Amino acid sequence: MNDDYQNLRIAKKQALTPDVVMFDLVHPEGAPLPVFTPGAHITVKTPKGLHRSYSLCGEPLDTQRWLIAVKRETTGRGGSLSMFDLLEGEVLPTKPWLNQFELNENAKSYLFVAGGIGITPILSMMRHLMSQGKSNFHLFYCTRDELNTPFMDLLSTPEWSAMVTIHHDHGDPSQSLDLWPIFESPNGADVYCCGPKGLMESVQDMTGHWPSECIHFESFGASDQQFVLNTPFEVVLNASAQQFHVPEHSSILDVLRAEGYSIKSSCESGTCGSCKTRFISGEVEHRDFVLLEEEKADHIMVCVSRAKSPTLVLDL
Ligand code: FES
Repeated sequence: MNDDYQNLRIAKKQALTPDVVMFDLVHPEGAPLPVFTPGAHITVKTPKGLHRSYSLCGEPLDTQRWLIAVKRETTGRGGSLSMFDLLEGEVLPTKPWLNQFELNENAKSYLFVAGGIGITPILSMMRHLMSQGKSNFHLFYCTRDELNTPFMDLLSTPEWSAMVTIHHDHGDPSQSLDLWPIFESPNGADVYCCGPKGLMESVQDMTGHWPSECIHFESFGASDQQFVLNTPFEVVLNASAQQFHVPEHSSILDVLRAEGYSIKSSCESGTCGSCKTRFISGEVEHRDFVLLEEEKADHIMVCVSRAKSPTLVLDL
């Protein structure tokens, strides 16, 4: 990853829920920020030195500030958690925005499905559509309860509420939103989904009969939960026979980067396809959203996927 970070200043920090804070980021000298496209994200260097990607959730044409919302993850590697220590007035090293979750501006209509903090990229899409006077979209937003619903106040206003269905499961999987009535009959809409892995897998399952080019996924900020129940393993680089230990709370990408290897990466959440790496032997637990079934036999996305076998040999 190139180290092309620029410091942005935290102009405002506010709690959206007990576990989510929103940061208003501004240029330190008050210069305008670049316009971004709906669904874009930025990568920041957290106080703990980890790289984290967060979707921009403000109005894409707003050059005065960029908004990101961060969820407290107590089970991850501490990257998001350390963001909570940041104070107004401090600076945050930030890379230029990127977009791997582009909105199809010409879609007939839009179906948005978000879970928890996964609302963020979709919010920028909805803000963009509304700024153009469009209302040809509907959001299905799944959260635990009202208290744990980021942007509840905004989405409940008369201006937004007609296009929004908020569903609470109260922490009970049996009360999850029934997606089948939404996806049973393809209706020509483009579908955009961001949220926990389980929600995205459900949408993937339910849309198998939809045109694949109309189904779009993003997972930034959704959860660090992939680092729960991880098993350590060894990774071996085939060309040099060097062997490195991948501990429970580090990814292969983290380990190789710490060893001085430059691996192409961007999202670090298994959605962009940048870090695709061939492997030679070992058994992989695929946790990404980009590899085709036929690619999984000999490729791994090293930012999120792990080895099930004690050793994994990469073609590096
Ligand atoms: S960095 Fe995007 S899939 Fe790995």
